[in-house]
Amino acid sequence: MYRHNRVVRLTPNHPLADGRTTHSPLISAFRSQRPDRRPIWFMRQAGRSLPEYRRAREGTAMLDACLTPALASELTLQPVRRHDVDAAIFFSDIVVPLRLAGVDVDIKPGVGPVLGRAVRTADDVAALPSVEDGAFAEALAPVRDGVALTVAELGSTPLIGFAGAPFTLAAYMVEGGPSRDHLAARTLMHADPQTWRALTAWTADVTGAFLRAQVLAGASAAQLFDSWAGSLSLADYTAHVAPASTRALAPVRDLGVPVVHFGTGTGELLVAMRDVGADVVGVDYRIPLDEANRRLGGTVPLQGNIDPALLAAPWPVLEAHVRDVVARGASAPGHVVNLGHGVPPDTDPDVLTRVVTLVHGIAG
Ligand code: CP3
Repeated sequence: MYRHNRVVRLTPNHPLADGRTTHSPLISAFRSQRPDRRPIWFMRQAGRSLPEYRRAREGTAMLDACLTPALASELTLQPVRRHDVDAAIFFSDIVVPLRLAGVDVDIKPGVGPVLGRAVRTADDVAALPSVEDGAFAEALAPVRDGVALTVAELGSTPLIGFAGAPFTLAAYMVEGGPSRDHLAARTLMHADPQTWRALTAWTADVTGAFLRAQVLAGASAAQLFDSWAGSLSLADYTAHVAPASTRALAPVRDLGVPVVHFGTGTGELLVAMRDVGADVVGVDYRIPLDEANRRLGGTVPLQGNIDPALLAAPWPVLEAHVRDVVARGASAPGHVVNLGHGVPPDTDPDVLTRVVTLVHGIAG
């Protein structure tokens, strides 16, 4: 298991320790306050919607871009400069730590993560590279360097570190690539629960180390993406997934940064997703925020949930929707405005900037 039993605190020059980001709108809302400026950022705000991104990425493969600290940092900063959003999210990918651990994985444009070989049996899991020794921690150096470069430029704007949750990562590994219903993964958790447990413990340790490296290097918050958790019943989530997600978050729980937990199609799972150790729950566009807050008993701030489809609708339609999201978010203890999933690649970036200006201008 990934060792984090040494008590390590944030260093005195960490943005959340030296006060740079402590009272930022994002961190305040994550801590159930109502800052004067209503915070907003967009999942997948870096990426193909930005012409400057397409130019900077030209000729560089996705994972190579993630592992080149200066480029990853530049791509992280682009949307902050352009849109005046209240957070940066580190430019990386949920499969970066798998690659750094030695797994044969690549990202195919227009497809997503694809593995050289699916991982399906006890032997496959036993053959996964060890992440217990110092070699994996050392391999995370480009991540730490990219975060440090970024934070040095961001000033009082917080950087969010992120990782994929054990289930979503394990689903890619068992399927060998993207799939619609994650059938092979869901079969494995019932057919061979021991192998499933070993695999999700491994993905939890890899992803927990990735998250902790980002926070120690300067990220002021952390977000766990369990994008595909919505394909699970509550019973399966609780029995076969939640323990691994708790394990993945353990390496950052002691650091005092707010932790957001997001998935899509998770209306039935919101309470269980909070209970693995989240401070903030990310809500997708399928459930209104006041209803999400009701299901959570008003216990945690929410993040979300503008429907990405409406970014391409006429402005009055989008504006009315954004105002509705903000009004419903007011019922929760805190609210960070975001999309209900990532920015679609063909989004007009000027629309995103206009949404930011609108949200910052809404009183109360
Ligand atoms: O701006 C940000 O939000 C930060 C960067 C970020 C990326 N991936 C960059 C990326 C984040 C937070 C992710 C997380 C991620 N990656 C998730 C969880 C979030 C979600 O969307 O549900 C998942 C499931 C992945 C796996 C993955 N990586 C997919 C499905 C894809 C899309 C493939 C495609 O080309 O359509 C990727 C590639 C990827 N990750 C891109 C970016 C900017 C596109 C690569 C490119 O521009 O060539």
